[in-house]
Amino acid sequence: MLADKDRIFTNLYGLQDFSLKGAMARGHWDGTKGILEKGRDWIINEMKASGLRGRGGAGFSTGLKWSFMPKQSDGRPHYLVVNADESEPGTCKDREILRNDPHTLIEGCLIASFAMGAHAAYIYVRGEFIYERKRLQQAIDECYAAGLLGKSNIHDYPFDLYVHHGAGAYICGEETALLESLEGKKGMPRMKPPFPANMGLYGCPTTVNNVESIAVAPTILRRGASWFSSIGRPNNVGTKLYGISGHVNRPCVVEDAMGIPFKELIEKHGGGVRGGWDNLLAIIPGGASCPVVPAEQCEDLIMDFDGLRAVKSSFGTAGVLVMDKSTDIVRAIARISYFFKHESCGQCTPCREGTGWMWRVVNRMAEGRAHKHEIDMLLEVTTQIEGHTICALGDAAAWPVQGLIRHYRHVIEERIDQYSANPHPQPVAAE
Ligand code: NAI
Ligand code: SF4
Repeated sequence: MLADKDRIFTNLYGLQDFSLKGAMARGHWDGTKGILEKGRDWIINEMKASGLRGRGGAGFSTGLKWSFMPKQSDGRPHYLVVNADESEPGTCKDREILRNDPHTLIEGCLIASFAMGAHAAYIYVRGEFIYERKRLQQAIDECYAAGLLGKSNIHDYPFDLYVHHGAGAYICGEETALLESLEGKKGMPRMKPPFPANMGLYGCPTTVNNVESIAVAPTILRRGASWFSSIGRPNNVGTKLYGISGHVNRPCVVEDAMGIPFKELIEKHGGGVRGGWDNLLAIIPGGASCPVVPAEQCEDLIMDFDGLRAVKSSFGTAGVLVMDKSTDIVRAIARISYFFKHESCGQCTPCREGTGWMWRVVNRMAEGRAHKHEIDMLLEVTTQIEGHTICALGDAAAWPVQGLIRHYRHVIEERIDQYSANPHPQPVAAE
């Protein structure tokens, strides 16, 4: 378990003063100018050495991403864009930072932008986060008033920070759709490459980072890369915000070490599974796109990128959805399929047609109104979607269905047998 002294987010639960005064009292904005004076290369190398992997879900090295930005300007401005469009079902960690520790993010924006030669940064906030946007703006206004930000500031680095409010579309959390939306267009993903570092916002070099990735950067640079990389285990280092929701006694967001055993996470922070550990059916470990992990594999599960890969799932955003034995697992995955069908931007055929098709079939399977041969057909369709779309939403829609079939084929088959033995009209499942 993470020692208190190693916590980065010291006001995660909003029990202390979130304002600039309170943040400074907790050590934020301490020696920021000194960090900038060490230079861009030092900052980027330190971030690389820290081993921080992007906290938005993909786990790409943050320092490496920063190093992709052109060193010399070709006349185009550089931008930092912070992805605060947190919308993955089961994920609400960035919301706590925006609400209660916004200065960690604002200071991180200044330092990251300096390292990448950006004089402006945009924070794209999820449409539903109205209160959080106001809090964030309030904190930014305080920084301008205190001379920490602005064209002329005490850091001698002209820098403006803007908050942009999204309109409530999940797809705008995909980095290139987010850039389109920020430019005032429909939020539809772009083909990659080119990656944003070459051709991002308004066609200019841009880095898009998750809120948590930017918010931890100042503390890493203050305390040193070796401090951060000493927490967790190789390739999976640092502290991490975990979300725990579903059938636990105490749902929460908590900061702990990468690589914490799943059982410890749920029992120490989540108050245990409702009805006890033996009542656990399965989990979805890192947001709705991650394949389900059945209870048998949760006993020794390690919560990090490699730990989840070992059980053919993924760490994602570390927003864990816990399901106890009262859960109808087929219906739960059908509901997730509906979500992806609803949020598909419709731009590419496998996703636009496939997500709706998967939802309809899984929904019928939840009712038993299917043929057993359709299970393999469904699996085949998921492989036709996965890897054949412009953005990761197609994959995200396919993976939960693949996980369902991998672990719960017998449940689907039993339901089909029960329905065949006693066919009866079924109510249409609510969307
Ligand atoms: P990705 O793996 O395509 O890219 C990750 C990042 O690395 C991007 O910023 C990309 O530009 C950069 N990158 C990757 N290869 C690069 C290269 N060769 N050169 C330059 N830059 C490169 O993943 P993506 O599509 O950005 O994110 C998918 C993840 O997002 C999923 O794992 C999912 O868990 C997560 N997600 C999170 C949500 C949330 O609410 N936090 C919502 C939806 C999905
Ligand atoms: Fe749009 Fe889906 Fe294609 Fe992504 S995969 S671009 S959401 S249609």
